[in-house]
Amino acid sequence: MNTITAADYTIVFNENAYSALNEVLQKNKYSKLFILVDENTNEYCLPEFLPFLATETAIEIIEIESGEEHKNIQTCTEVWSILTDLGADRKSVLINLGGGVITDLGGFVASTFKRGIDFINIPTTLLGMVDASVGGKNGVDLGALKNQVGTITNPQLVVVDTRFLNTLPQNQMRSGLAEMLKHGLIADANYWNEFSDLAQKDSTQLDQLIHHAIVIKNEIVQQDPTELGIRKALNFGHTLGHAIESYFLENESKVTLLHGEAIAVGMILESYLSLQKKLISEDNYYHIKSTIKSIFGTVEILENDLTPICDLLIHDKKNEYGKVQFVLLDGIGSIKYNQEVAIELIMSAFQEYKS
Ligand code: GLY
Repeated sequence: MNTITAADYTIVFNENAYSALNEVLQKNKYSKLFILVDENTNEYCLPEFLPFLATETAIEIIEIESGEEHKNIQTCTEVWSILTDLGADRKSVLINLGGGVITDLGGFVASTFKRGIDFINIPTTLLGMVDASVGGKNGVDLGALKNQVGTITNPQLVVVDTRFLNTLPQNQMRSGLAEMLKHGLIADANYWNEFSDLAQKDSTQLDQLIHHAIVIKNEIVQQDPTELGIRKALNFGHTLGHAIESYFLENESKVTLLHGEAIAVGMILESYLSLQKKLISEDNYYHIKSTIKSIFGTVEILENDLTPICDLLIHDKKNEYGKVQFVLLDGIGSIKYNQEVAIELIMSAFQEYKS
């Protein structure tokens, strides 16, 4: 698969990946190499990865606990302290080996440590490959509020090795699929249509779909790296999806949703808002709903969940001047951003979702 060129870094795949990584390490003459892992990537991915590293530079492993509940400033403080204790300096590099939590948090830790050290993302989950590791945004949650603190800083390199997916649990694969579906819905109708016969796809075709998802994301980010306009497209499904994800994360009576599971609900809800605003047809809406529900099922959302979920919308990062702003579909493969929606319409979207 061809290398993808981003603003000031490249995204390299499978067969080309490790020679590119070793070149970057050699070229930058790092003083020390730190690898950030969680307990899962330490056990399953690090042993696969280390033999590919051709470097004389000293290597240290830093492990944090897995899970969105650890993507916070306390974990960053631990990692900053460990880096300090292990003698990291401004010529050190942090390799983030893991899913979205590792690359989001690791990117933030690196971009702020000693006012910024280099980092390299090696995503090991589908979500990490098609979304979290690419685009330069990194950060952590603030309590229940997702990604409220962060920076936009690009990695030196992103290494996509799809063999890591062989050990990934099914629910994690589904979580990544949500972002791939989103990329089709917002930017490429043909790509969206590829998912109607997903069960028939073999691993080579899945690799191509992953590559294409990254191409779509990279093209959008390159047009608008700091999200002043078109990059907001990538937030389709995320306004309500993030609120649902935060609510389920904080509520003890709920089972925590994976990011993609919440975004799948958000995409159906926000497609309904698009229908109500006459931006997509009924056929399009019901096709989106049935395709997403065929993969993700229906998440139980009770009547008394709705008000607290909607209360969380006021913290959405896209809000401007205190107003909740949605990204809505404008046909399949296109969007309109900065769309205001009445609360009654949002409530009716939840009612429709359940049906
Ligand atoms: N790192 C994720 C993004 O920039 O969208």
